[in-house]
Amino acid sequence: MAASVGEEPAEEGEVVAKLGSYGWEVRLLVGGGEEESEAAAAETMLLWGIQQPTHSKPNAYVAQSSLTLALEACGHSLSILQSPSSLGTPGVTGAVMWDSGVVLGKFLEHAVDSGKLVLQDKKVVELGSGCGLVGCIAALLGARVILTDLPDRLRLLKKNVETNLRYGNMRGSATVRELTWGYDPDIELIEPLPDYVLGSDVIYNEEAVVDLLDTLMQLCGTQTTIFLAGELRNDTVLEYFLEAAMKDFVIGRVPQEQFHPDYRSRRVVMYVLIKKRNQLT
Ligand SMILES: C[S@@+](CC[C@H](N)C(=O)[O-])C[C@H]1O[C@@H](n2cnc3c(N)ncnc32)[C@H](O)[C@@H]1O
Repeated sequence: MAASVGEEPAEEGEVVAKLGSYGWEVRLLVGGGEEESEAAAAETMLLWGIQQPTHSKPNAYVAQSSLTLALEACGHSLSILQSPSSLGTPGVTGAVMWDSGVVLGKFLEHAVDSGKLVLQDKKVVELGSGCGLVGCIAALLGARVILTDLPDRLRLLKKNVETNLRYGNMRGSATVRELTWGYDPDIELIEPLPDYVLGSDVIYNEEAVVDLLDTLMQLCGTQTTIFLAGELRNDTVLEYFLEAAMKDFVIGRVPQEQFHPDYRSRRVVMYVLIKKRNQLT
């Protein structure tokens, strides 16, 4: 029998499992003790070797020189404002949308429509929201979303939330809060701990990895499922993140077949993470 979408047979040596509250099986990155570095290296080699990300077009779903990104999602026409001129400012990356944000947002819609993910009434925290597309889609799918970013990045984010979530029949809700990775999150973010933590294109800088993982640890409880999507630009940074993350989290890669059929890119990878049992307090 042919495998249906999301149920691709595992290749020899691959371990697949359902993680957290996500209903499709993902491909586990298996490592423990010293094997973590081997598993992280094997994963990046496989991604760059098999997916050949450099052969795919960057910015397939975004136009970073435009003032708006238009996207149909959850039955609405979203219009995400961008500030291309701010991109030249050192350290400012969230002033425009990135492909992995579009892929993650449309993936959430697809997974909910397919009955593999429930966001209705769930608490969701998004990290490094940038222009806010992912958080807006999660709110349209019924979640109670807190979109977060660095303090000086919140103006555009608030504007996009206000502009795109003003429907009378909104199923979920969205608020914007400051959160710098590595600092203690506001009580509102952790009491209660979120059901889901989302992040797109947040693993691109080796220096920020330790702080990002610290924040993920603080936000993650027994019931928390993390989805991280990222663009395959730098294998060293991804490998560094995976090796460090594997110490505290079980990690599974979401197969491309589970992405939204119209928003699949060999340059984008997506992981599901849950906290390891021995890390739960
Ligand atoms: C490449 S952008 C991605 C933006 C958005 N998620 C997307 O996919 O379009 C990275 C985001 O992470 C945020 N960020 C970077 N370092 C951060 C930190 N230390 N604490 C909180 N947010 C951070 C940036 O401000 C930016 O919004």
